[in-house]
Amino acid sequence: MKIALGSDHGGVRLKNCVKEYLQQENIEFKDFGTFSEDSIDYPDIAREAAEAVADRLFDRGILICGTGIGVGIAANKVPGIRAALCHDTFSARASREHNNANILTMGERVIGRGLALEIVKAWLAAEFTGGRHNCRIEKISEIEKKYSLNRGDDSRSLKNE
Ligand code: RB5
Repeated sequence: MKIALGSDHGGVRLKNCVKEYLQQENIEFKDFGTFSEDSIDYPDIAREAAEAVADRLFDRGILICGTGIGVGIAANKVPGIRAALCHDTFSARASREHNNANILTMGERVIGRGLALEIVKAWLAAEFTGGRHNCRIEKISEIEKKYSLNRGDDSRSLKNE
């Protein structure tokens, strides 16, 4: 599994912990930054990592900011992305099993490292269960298509069909 990993300055320390965990587990990843605590704009990192996941260069993504909210909102603007903000292992598992979430987001200012790593483990291990959830995911894609079509050259709406 290949992971696109990223954070803003508010999430960089937790990102480094996740990075260490991925290294320990021999899970392939690319770190999209940021690499210091200097202030940056979270949509920049979220967009780059989310586009790489949407383009299938990576299987999944993990994005971290202070709350996990900003990176999640930004990532979810990229067609094909289903980013889930999870601060507990139950939601992390459900976001994979029910929502087929392809990006996990977390907030460094919200949870501790121990819990964050448990969430990462649960999320990486869980798989989409399909079945009744398939048509719900399809309906999400339909909403995306409705609002992404005819938006000019930068539209990514048809890329993952
Ligand atoms: C940065 O101060 C903070 O706003 C950001 O990390 C994040 O929490 C935004 O949602």
